[in-house]
Amino acid sequence: MKEIGHYQVGALRLRENPARDSCFRLVQNDSEMHEYERSHPLARRETVHRHMSNEITSLDIAAQCLAEFPDAPWELRLELARQCWDESRHVSALFRRLAELGGAKGEFPISAFEWNVTCALDDLPGRLATQNRTFEAGAMDVVGQLAPAVEAAGDPETAAVLQGILADEVHHVRFANRWIKAFVEQDRRVLLKVAFAVRFLERANAALQSQPGETNAAGRAMDAPSERVPAVNVDDRRLAEFSDDEIAEVLRQAGFRFIGLQAPE
Ligand SMILES: [Fe+2]
Ligand SMILES: [Fe+2]
Repeated sequence: MKEIGHYQVGALRLRENPARDSCFRLVQNDSEMHEYERSHPLARRETVHRHMSNEITSLDIAAQCLAEFPDAPWELRLELARQCWDESRHVSALFRRLAELGGAKGEFPISAFEWNVTCALDDLPGRLATQNRTFEAGAMDVVGQLAPAVEAAGDPETAAVLQGILADEVHHVRFANRWIKAFVEQDRRVLLKVAFAVRFLERANAALQSQPGETNAAGRAMDAPSERVPAVNVDDRRLAEFSDDEIAEVLRQAGFRFIGLQAPE
Protein backbone atom coordinates (compact mmCIF):
# COMPACT_ATOMS: atom_id res chain seq x y z
CA MET A 1 0.00 0.00 0.00
CA LYS A 2 1.36 3.43 -0.92
CA GLU A 3 1.98 5.62 2.14
CA ILE A 4 0.27 9.02 1.88
CA GLY A 5 2.78 11.67 2.92
CA HIS A 6 2.63 15.29 3.99
CA TYR A 7 3.25 18.73 2.49
CA GLN A 8 3.92 22.19 3.91
CA VAL A 9 1.78 25.30 3.68
CA GLY A 10 3.90 27.87 5.47
CA ALA A 11 4.44 26.49 8.96
CA LEU A 12 1.59 23.98 8.64
CA ARG A 13 2.25 20.34 7.84
CA LEU A 14 -0.81 19.00 6.00
CA ARG A 15 -1.56 15.51 4.71
CA GLU A 16 -1.13 14.89 0.97
CA ASN A 17 -4.31 14.44 -1.06
CA PRO A 18 -5.91 11.00 -1.13
CA ALA A 19 -6.17 9.14 -4.44
CA ARG A 20 -9.00 10.17 -6.74
CA ASP A 21 -10.23 8.94 -10.13
CA SER A 22 -8.28 10.58 -12.94
CA CYS A 23 -11.41 12.50 -14.07
CA PHE A 24 -11.21 14.68 -10.94
CA ARG A 25 -9.08 17.79 -10.62
CA LEU A 26 -8.08 18.39 -7.00
CA VAL A 27 -7.45 22.00 -5.98
CA GLN A 28 -6.14 23.39 -2.72
CA ASN A 29 -7.61 26.86 -2.23
CA ASP A 30 -11.37 27.49 -2.16
CA SER A 31 -10.92 30.31 -4.70
CA GLU A 32 -10.01 27.59 -7.24
CA MET A 33 -13.42 25.95 -6.77
CA HIS A 34 -16.38 26.65 -9.08
CA GLU A 35 -18.90 27.72 -6.47
CA TYR A 36 -21.44 29.73 -8.50
CA GLU A 37 -23.98 32.37 -7.55
CA ARG A 38 -27.20 30.56 -6.62
CA SER A 39 -28.98 31.86 -9.76
CA HIS A 40 -26.33 30.45 -12.14
CA PRO A 41 -27.59 27.57 -14.35
CA LEU A 42 -24.74 25.30 -13.18
CA ALA A 43 -25.06 26.16 -9.48
CA ARG A 44 -27.27 23.21 -8.46
CA ARG A 45 -25.10 20.68 -10.26
CA GLU A 46 -21.90 22.09 -8.81
CA THR A 47 -23.42 22.00 -5.31
CA VAL A 48 -24.42 18.34 -5.70
CA HIS A 49 -20.97 17.54 -7.17
CA ARG A 50 -19.21 19.33 -4.28
CA HIS A 51 -21.26 17.54 -1.64
CA MET A 52 -20.66 14.22 -3.41
CA SER A 53 -16.92 14.86 -3.34
CA ASN A 54 -17.07 15.81 0.36
CA GLU A 55 -18.84 12.51 1.08
CA ILE A 56 -15.99 10.62 -0.62
CA THR A 57 -13.59 12.53 1.63
CA SER A 58 -15.65 11.72 4.76
CA LEU A 59 -15.50 8.05 3.78
CA ASP A 60 -11.73 8.26 3.28
CA ILE A 61 -11.20 9.93 6.66
CA ALA A 62 -13.30 7.43 8.63
CA ALA A 63 -11.59 4.53 6.82
CA GLN A 64 -8.13 6.00 7.44
CA CYS A 65 -8.93 6.34 11.17
CA LEU A 66 -9.78 2.63 11.23
CA ALA A 67 -6.51 1.79 9.46
CA GLU A 68 -4.25 4.09 11.52
CA PHE A 69 -5.77 3.51 14.99
CA PRO A 70 -6.17 -0.27 15.24
CA ASP A 71 -6.07 -0.12 19.06
CA ALA A 72 -9.02 2.26 19.42
CA PRO A 73 -11.91 0.86 21.51
CA TRP A 74 -13.90 -1.71 19.57
CA GLU A 75 -17.22 0.20 19.95
CA LEU A 76 -15.62 3.31 18.43
CA ARG A 77 -14.18 1.25 15.57
CA LEU A 78 -17.69 -0.09 14.95
CA GLU A 79 -19.04 3.47 14.80
CA LEU A 80 -16.33 4.43 12.28
CA ALA A 81 -17.04 1.32 10.19
CA ARG A 82 -20.76 2.13 10.16
CA GLN A 83 -19.87 5.69 9.20
CA CYS A 84 -17.93 4.33 6.18
CA TRP A 85 -21.08 2.49 5.09
CA ASP A 86 -23.23 5.63 5.56
CA GLU A 87 -20.79 7.83 3.64
CA SER A 88 -20.59 5.37 0.75
CA ARG A 89 -24.39 5.46 0.48
CA HIS A 90 -24.25 9.27 0.53
CA VAL A 91 -21.77 9.25 -2.36
CA SER A 92 -24.05 6.92 -4.37
CA ALA A 93 -27.21 8.95 -3.68
CA LEU A 94 -25.56 12.23 -4.71
CA PHE A 95 -23.91 10.64 -7.75
CA ARG A 96 -27.33 9.36 -8.87
CA ARG A 97 -28.85 12.80 -8.40
CA LEU A 98 -25.92 14.44 -10.23
CA ALA A 99 -26.52 12.18 -13.23
CA GLU A 100 -30.28 12.97 -13.15
CA LEU A 101 -29.39 16.67 -13.29
CA GLY A 102 -27.29 16.00 -16.41
CA GLY A 103 -23.96 16.19 -14.58
CA ALA A 104 -20.93 13.93 -14.53
CA LYS A 105 -18.19 13.19 -12.02
CA GLY A 106 -15.16 15.37 -12.56
CA GLU A 107 -17.01 18.21 -14.27
CA PHE A 108 -16.01 20.68 -11.52
CA PRO A 109 -12.82 21.03 -9.45
CA ILE A 110 -12.88 19.35 -6.03
CA SER A 111 -11.02 19.84 -2.76
CA ALA A 112 -9.95 17.35 -0.08
CA PHE A 113 -9.26 20.09 2.48
CA GLU A 114 -11.04 18.17 5.26
CA TRP A 115 -8.68 15.24 4.68
CA ASN A 116 -5.58 17.47 4.34
CA VAL A 117 -6.27 18.90 7.81
CA THR A 118 -7.82 15.98 9.69
CA CYS A 119 -5.41 13.28 8.55
CA ALA A 120 -2.43 15.50 9.38
CA LEU A 121 -3.36 15.05 13.07
CA ASP A 122 -1.81 12.02 14.70
CA ASP A 123 -4.37 11.35 17.44
CA LEU A 124 -7.92 10.04 17.15
CA PRO A 125 -9.67 12.53 19.51
CA GLY A 126 -8.14 15.36 17.43
CA ARG A 127 -9.44 13.82 14.21
CA LEU A 128 -12.93 13.34 15.68
CA ALA A 129 -12.82 16.97 16.84
CA THR A 130 -12.03 18.33 13.36
CA GLN A 131 -13.82 15.95 11.00
CA ASN A 132 -16.96 14.86 12.87
CA ARG A 133 -17.40 17.55 15.48
CA THR A 134 -16.45 20.54 13.29
CA PHE A 135 -16.68 19.76 9.54
CA GLU A 136 -19.67 17.42 9.75
CA ALA A 137 -21.42 19.57 12.35
CA GLY A 138 -20.87 22.52 9.99
CA ALA A 139 -22.33 20.41 7.18
CA MET A 140 -25.46 19.90 9.35
CA ASP A 141 -25.81 23.69 9.47
CA VAL A 142 -25.26 24.07 5.71
CA VAL A 143 -27.55 21.20 4.66
CA GLY A 144 -30.23 22.19 7.19
CA GLN A 145 -30.56 25.45 5.28
CA LEU A 146 -29.79 24.14 1.78
CA ALA A 147 -32.42 21.35 1.67
CA PRO A 148 -35.48 23.61 2.23
CA ALA A 149 -33.98 26.27 -0.10
CA VAL A 150 -33.55 23.71 -2.89
CA GLU A 151 -37.09 22.45 -2.33
CA ALA A 152 -38.47 26.01 -2.45
CA ALA A 153 -36.58 26.50 -5.72
CA GLY A 154 -38.57 23.59 -7.22
CA ASP A 155 -36.20 20.65 -6.75
CA PRO A 156 -37.77 18.32 -4.14
CA GLU A 157 -35.66 15.36 -5.36
CA THR A 158 -32.33 16.96 -4.43
CA ALA A 159 -33.90 18.21 -1.18
CA ALA A 160 -34.96 14.65 -0.26
CA VAL A 161 -31.45 13.29 -0.89
CA LEU A 162 -29.95 16.02 1.32
CA GLN A 163 -32.50 15.45 4.12
CA GLY A 164 -31.75 11.73 4.11
CA ILE A 165 -28.02 12.42 4.41
CA LEU A 166 -28.57 14.92 7.23
CA ALA A 167 -30.26 12.27 9.37
CA ASP A 168 -27.10 10.13 9.22
CA GLU A 169 -24.75 13.07 9.82
CA VAL A 170 -26.40 13.81 13.15
CA HIS A 171 -25.19 10.45 14.41
CA HIS A 172 -21.65 10.92 13.03
CA VAL A 173 -21.40 14.12 15.06
CA ARG A 174 -23.08 12.57 18.11
CA PHE A 175 -20.76 9.57 18.40
CA ALA A 176 -17.74 11.90 18.13
CA ASN A 177 -19.13 14.09 20.91
CA ARG A 178 -19.71 11.01 23.09
CA TRP A 179 -16.27 9.54 22.48
CA ILE A 180 -14.38 12.80 22.97
CA LYS A 181 -16.18 13.19 26.30
CA ALA A 182 -15.29 9.61 27.26
CA PHE A 183 -11.61 10.09 26.29
CA VAL A 184 -11.42 13.32 28.32
CA GLU A 185 -13.00 11.64 31.36
CA GLN A 186 -10.28 8.97 31.16
CA ASP A 187 -7.47 11.47 30.69
CA ARG A 188 -7.89 15.25 31.01
CA ARG A 189 -4.82 15.81 28.78
CA VAL A 190 -6.94 14.77 25.79
CA LEU A 191 -8.57 18.22 26.07
CA LEU A 192 -5.26 19.75 25.01
CA LYS A 193 -5.19 17.53 21.92
CA VAL A 194 -8.73 18.59 21.04
CA ALA A 195 -7.84 22.26 21.55
CA PHE A 196 -4.71 21.82 19.41
CA ALA A 197 -6.79 20.20 16.63
CA VAL A 198 -9.31 23.04 16.59
CA ARG A 199 -6.51 25.63 16.54
CA PHE A 200 -4.71 23.73 13.75
CA LEU A 201 -7.90 23.83 11.68
CA GLU A 202 -8.27 27.57 12.28
CA ARG A 203 -4.72 28.13 11.04
CA ALA A 204 -5.32 25.98 7.94
CA ASN A 205 -8.51 27.91 7.21
CA ALA A 206 -6.65 31.19 7.54
CA ALA A 207 -3.94 29.94 5.14
CA LEU A 208 -6.18 28.51 2.44
CA GLN A 209 -9.50 30.35 2.53
CA SER A 210 -10.01 33.05 -0.06
CA GLN A 211 -9.96 36.64 1.07
CA PRO A 212 -12.88 39.08 0.76
CA GLY A 213 -12.87 40.76 -2.61
CA GLU A 214 -11.11 37.80 -4.23
CA THR A 215 -12.91 36.28 -7.22
CA ASN A 216 -13.13 32.50 -7.49
CA ALA A 217 -12.51 30.37 -10.60
CA ALA A 218 -16.21 30.62 -11.51
CA GLY A 219 -16.06 34.43 -11.49
CA ARG A 220 -17.90 34.83 -8.18
CA ALA A 221 -16.78 37.51 -5.72
CA MET A 222 -16.04 35.71 -2.45
CA ASP A 223 -17.60 36.85 0.83
CA ALA A 224 -15.47 37.51 3.87
CA PRO A 225 -14.90 34.28 5.87
CA SER A 226 -17.04 35.68 8.74
CA GLU A 227 -19.97 36.13 6.33
CA ARG A 228 -19.65 32.54 5.15
CA VAL A 229 -20.52 31.12 8.60
CA PRO A 230 -23.88 29.36 8.07
CA ALA A 231 -26.92 29.84 10.29
CA VAL A 232 -26.80 27.32 13.14
CA ASN A 233 -28.91 24.17 12.94
CA VAL A 234 -29.80 24.30 16.62
CA ASP A 235 -32.22 21.36 16.65
CA ASP A 236 -29.80 18.93 15.00
CA ARG A 237 -26.87 20.16 17.10
CA ARG A 238 -28.97 19.35 20.17
CA LEU A 239 -29.70 15.89 18.76
CA ALA A 240 -25.95 15.48 18.18
CA GLU A 241 -25.47 16.21 21.92
CA PHE A 242 -23.71 19.55 21.83
CA SER A 243 -24.23 21.19 25.23
CA ASP A 244 -26.24 24.42 25.57
CA ASP A 245 -23.01 26.32 26.22
CA GLU A 246 -21.39 24.90 23.07
CA ILE A 247 -24.47 25.80 20.99
CA ALA A 248 -24.45 29.31 22.46
CA GLU A 249 -20.80 29.70 21.39
CA VAL A 250 -21.49 28.55 17.82
CA LEU A 251 -24.49 30.89 17.69
CA ARG A 252 -22.31 33.78 18.76
CA GLN A 253 -19.85 32.99 15.94
CA ALA A 254 -22.77 32.92 13.47
CA GLY A 255 -24.06 36.33 14.56
CA PHE A 256 -26.98 34.59 16.34
CA ARG A 257 -28.52 33.38 13.10
CA PHE A 258 -30.17 29.99 13.45
CA ILE A 259 -32.54 27.64 11.65
CA GLY A 260 -35.07 25.27 13.14
CA LEU A 261 -38.41 25.66 14.81
CA GLN A 262 -37.22 25.77 18.37
CA ALA A 263 -35.67 29.03 19.56
CA PRO A 264 -32.38 28.49 21.41
CA GLU A 265 -32.70 29.06 25.16
FE1 LIG B 1 -22.04 11.96 4.76
FE1 LIG C 1 -20.78 11.95 7.87
